[in-house]
Amino acid sequence: MPFRKVGVVGCGLMGSGIAETAARSGFPVVVREVSDALLQRGLEWIERSMARGVERGKLTAADRDAARGRIVGTVRLEDLGDSDVVCEAIIENMAEKQRLYQALDEICRPDTVFASNTSSLSITAMASATRRPERVLGLHFFNPVPVMKPVEMVRGLRTSDETLAAGRAFAERLGKTVVACKDYPGFIVNLLLVPYLLDAIRALELGVASKEDIDTAVTLGLNHPMGPLTLLDFIGIDTTYYIAEAMFEEFKDARYAAPPLMRRMVLAGLHGRKTGHGFYDYPRS
Ligand code: CAA
Repeated sequence: MPFRKVGVVGCGLMGSGIAETAARSGFPVVVREVSDALLQRGLEWIERSMARGVERGKLTAADRDAARGRIVGTVRLEDLGDSDVVCEAIIENMAEKQRLYQALDEICRPDTVFASNTSSLSITAMASATRRPERVLGLHFFNPVPVMKPVEMVRGLRTSDETLAAGRAFAERLGKTVVACKDYPGFIVNLLLVPYLLDAIRALELGVASKEDIDTAVTLGLNHPMGPLTLLDFIGIDTTYYIAEAMFEEFKDARYAAPPLMRRMVLAGLHGRKTGHGFYDYPRS
């Protein structure tokens, strides 16, 4: 059965992007945050992103209004009870995720599919917190979700073929290109990206070059849209730190060890664009 109703847990950078993209693709969406303040912030991000979409001619004002009308925000997990698929985009912490999946397992119908947007944690470990491990998969989106094409579709050890087929059909209805991978730390993109981003911080720490020159070298030299330190600010230094920690925990390999500067920036609240300060400053508009 194709999915009709979409639940999203977490309305941060990724959850808001998934909720927006699903609503723009015609799905009714219920998105849940833990507090009214975080929910309002997430809904504002959706508003701003859709306004950019209208400005850039990617959607009409009427389509934006229709998409807005399909999104319901809530702080009650119970409101996701009649979802056909629940996309989870909360903090990259396994204990938190397993607690959430246990709760969702009670609230949702037995046939509801759970799709985690995790970028590094084990789908199999999340699935094991539920009584429906065959209905749990990874659908890992990229930031900004409405713009970025790929979705990494991750098969846990017990994910069924039926769940994968439904997950693929859903991601394709969102206009995404699906790449399939196994439940391996970092999947495809972060397996390659995280050591590169950490190395950029190490280069800065070592004084190899200024942050501007590191970014300019990569932007112009490799033709990337953003240099690594700008990209870290964009993804979130905290988010990348949690991903790196999870990968280090799995591999015990120094390539995935967060550099001291990164840890200190996380502790200081210098998380990048979302907090207004990271490697660069982002004045609030
Ligand atoms: N809705 C729809 N389309 C939008 C949009 C929106 N809200 N906002 C922008 N767009 C479109 C624009 O119309 C434009 O499309 P065209 O090329 O067809 O004209 C395109 O998106 C680019 O937008 P802009 O011109 O506004 O901005 P830009 O050229 O400065 O690009 C960017 C912005 C897309 C973010 C670009 O800088 C980029 O690609 N950066 C790298 C992003 C990246 O690497 N993301 C992955 C991070 S890793 C991750 O997410 C996974 C993880 O686990 C850590």
